[in-house]
Amino acid sequence: VPRYPLYTREEVGRHRSPQDRIWVTHGTEVFDVTDFVELHPGGADKVLLAAGGALEPFWALYAVHSQPHVLELLREYKVGELSPEEAPPAPDATRDPFAGDPPRHPGLRVNSQKPFNAEPPAELLAERFLTPNELFFTRNHLPVPAVDPSSYRLRVEGPGGRALSLSLAELRSRFPKHEVTATLQCAGNRRSEMSRVRPVKGLSWDIGAISTARWGGVRLRDVLLDAGFSEEREGEWHVCFEGLDADAAGAPYGASIPYGRAVSPAADVLLAYEMNGEELPRDHGFPLRVVVPGVVGARSVKWLQRVAVSPTESPSHWQRNDYKGFSPCVDWDTVDYTTAPAIQELPVQSAITHPRPGAAVPEGELTVKGYAWSGGGREVVRVDVSLDGGRTWRVARLTGERPVPGRAWAWALWELQAPVTAGAELEIICKAVDGSYNVQPDTVAPIWNLRGVLSNAWHRVHVTVSR
Ligand code: HEM
Ligand code: MTE
Repeated sequence: VPRYPLYTREEVGRHRSPQDRIWVTHGTEVFDVTDFVELHPGGADKVLLAAGGALEPFWALYAVHSQPHVLELLREYKVGELSPEEAPPAPDATRDPFAGDPPRHPGLRVNSQKPFNAEPPAELLAERFLTPNELFFTRNHLPVPAVDPSSYRLRVEGPGGRALSLSLAELRSRFPKHEVTATLQCAGNRRSEMSRVRPVKGLSWDIGAISTARWGGVRLRDVLLDAGFSEEREGEWHVCFEGLDADAAGAPYGASIPYGRAVSPAADVLLAYEMNGEELPRDHGFPLRVVVPGVVGARSVKWLQRVAVSPTESPSHWQRNDYKGFSPCVDWDTVDYTTAPAIQELPVQSAITHPRPGAAVPEGELTVKGYAWSGGGREVVRVDVSLDGGRTWRVARLTGERPVPGRAWAWALWELQAPVTAGAELEIICKAVDGSYNVQPDTVAPIWNLRGVLSNAWHRVHVTVSR
């Protein structure tokens, strides 16, 4: 039996690039897979996601690896073992409000650790129509609340001062189960491109503050009708949601949507307890969250505690003083949040997930891939792709599930194959068109706004073609 040198996880973590060699661990074994990266059937970029760390969290997402020949192949690259003292990292024992946050997938691109905000790497974002729960982007404003499902109750304020208090068991048994495949997108998706024009305030999201899941739960409409509300209400009303996560002053995360959307059977607004057939994960609102299809993610309140109907919008900071769009001429001295409506339905959006900016792609047939989506259930009818900075265009092939027009809650994935010649510099662009023939603006500057929201200009990726 060969004796291998022992390494700590920290030592393994220093090997994350071809120059430093690319190491990964599996169980207690350490492998130098630098020479395998280019041979990987799933692509070199995928292996690099695990560089310096454990393979298991990634392999758990791709069952092709649970075959004996994969482990045999890996064995050829063994260079060491983890030292026996290397226990799994200890949880933070200090009095930190975030110490109770759940463990997360190491593949996520973290924009902020506390509160936790992270997006799936672009390489995996559009690999699947449904985003695996572990990779679904996470947008938390506060620590993740710890909820005991047996004592959990949802409070629904009914008309005339009556209220419903529903346990999870009652929610499941009193109302029919309803499932919806819907994409959630944060208002700040692609903010990093906006801050390149001029600095903005907010987390620097790349193209991944968007993900898609099959949500299971009960219709908000059914719960509101059961609480005593009727389909029609005179005048303008709002359905307000409160989460169990609260800030230091005790104010919960909150948001609201118009009453008409909440009771419309065609709007498919859910109180979801399931995500992709699994119990809702803690980061995504366990045990119950709102899912408002076609609407900015901020209204899909997680860890839902209370639902109320009100003649005014939610008083929450996140409804009244954030998540609104402004003219490029408005700055922090002149902004008046009362003058702009809260973002609800989002505009048409698309982005290129492959290739990545700055990549060197091989000559021959290039495959360009990405996602496209529009708010309000407007289906994506076309995605145009240019390889020459917008001089000429081709139409991409839409893949994934065909939507019901007007209720296209989920993104479309798309692909385009084109021949490319060695030495060329490509400026790849994508732009989507929705069922109302809405299009994306060609540049960022005219839609720049101080909070960096609604960033949906043509997505541009520069690459070079190598031999
Ligand atoms: C496919 C090995 C890391 C994603 C495969 C296959 C092998 C393999 C042998 C082909 C399996 C078959 O079809 O029978 C490895 C090894 C790795 C590694 C040795 C570590 C050094 C990763 C990582 C990811 C990944 C970190 C994801 C982040 C994939 C995907 C496929 C694949 C998506 C399927 C490709 C396709 O069906 O076209 N891998 N893999 N792999 N791998 Fe890996
Ligand atoms: N709900 C609560 N209770 N607390 C939050 O911080 N963030 C909102 C929304 N619901 C938030 C919330 C925002 S801004 C977005 S974009 C979505 O949740 C993100 O949902 P996800 O983390 O499941 O992707």
